[in-house]
Amino acid sequence: SDIEKGAYPHYMLKEMDEQPSVIRKISKAYESELGDLTIAPEIKQALQQADRLYIIAAGTSYHAGLVGKQYFEKMAQKPVEVHISSEFGYNMPLLSQKPLFIFITQSGETADSRQVLVKIKELGYPSLTITNVQGSTLSREADHTLLLHAGPEIAVASTKAYVAQIAVLAIAAYAIAEDKVMDVKQELAIAANAIQVMVDAKAAIEEIALAYLPIARNAFFIGRNMDYYVAMEGALKLKEISYIQAEGFAGGELKHGTIALIEEGTPVFALVTQEAVALNIRGNVKEVAARGAHACIIAMEGVAEEGDHLVLPQVHELLTPLVAVVPLQLISYYAALHRRCDVDKPRNLAKSVTVE
Ligand code: G6P
Repeated sequence: SDIEKGAYPHYMLKEMDEQPSVIRKISKAYESELGDLTIAPEIKQALQQADRLYIIAAGTSYHAGLVGKQYFEKMAQKPVEVHISSEFGYNMPLLSQKPLFIFITQSGETADSRQVLVKIKELGYPSLTITNVQGSTLSREADHTLLLHAGPEIAVASTKAYVAQIAVLAIAAYAIAEDKVMDVKQELAIAANAIQVMVDAKAAIEEIALAYLPIARNAFFIGRNMDYYVAMEGALKLKEISYIQAEGFAGGELKHGTIALIEEGTPVFALVTQEAVALNIRGNVKEVAARGAHACIIAMEGVAEEGDHLVLPQVHELLTPLVAVVPLQLISYYAALHRRCDVDKPRNLAKSVTVE
């Protein structure tokens, strides 16, 4: 069944393996009678009527929200702000005339996010929850819900819910886009296949983890544009389950401080999936390598070069996070495994945090 790990040693491994089928399930779940992907008319209307979307989330869901902002702005010309729920609660920004609040939450139970929902409801604003759990608190209390259809996620470190969130955000943005910049159904199908290629590359990815992380004290993840958001998620995964201090940041920011931390052998994972910034991020890799960093380049077909350490199959430039995150999840998994950490139940963490 969905909540048994069967032959898998860890739920996290099982859940990473499920990612291609999760994307395909979402595609089926959001298919209209015409065969196109869309969302319920009332949700479409709520999104269209808003002059600005406020995405509220925590942890991995916040990282998915950052990608979602790009989708609504690039596909549908809808302005978006993304906020960490625990900050928004007491430090509310000036709101637009017609805001719509979007809560992204795997569990639907995160107290920090619920606190914001309670507050904005008191103010009379409309809300949409994107969650994996039907009937969860944030789903019941919001005006609208979009389901992730990822199946139960048991491992504390979120993997398949993240890709599900990104896929659902892409479909929602696509649904309200006037000029469709891509065929989201077709591009998600291509992405599902690309994710499959990555989960099938476990042996190569385990070798990378072993080459870079067994004795590392810290690690850096760098990227630009969409890759920056995935870098942050990659760093979070590594922190959560391997307890290696990790930081994900924008390649261009290196020179403004973080590069001071680079020493002989410091692992730096660089993502190169975005054509427009490929040269710049490769420049950053040269800068850290010149200071002794042990750099690992994860690049996408089309912008990959000889000597890159892992090559991802090509997908639409807006959907690269779906694929690029997978090797980072697996690197964290194998790093944690080889450091004998409790992969599914890391210390100090809970799957859903129901206290503020
Ligand atoms: C906890 C989990 C994280 C998760 C975050 C938000 O901290 O350990 O993996 O990203 O909560 O959870 P949610 O259910 O709201 O997405």
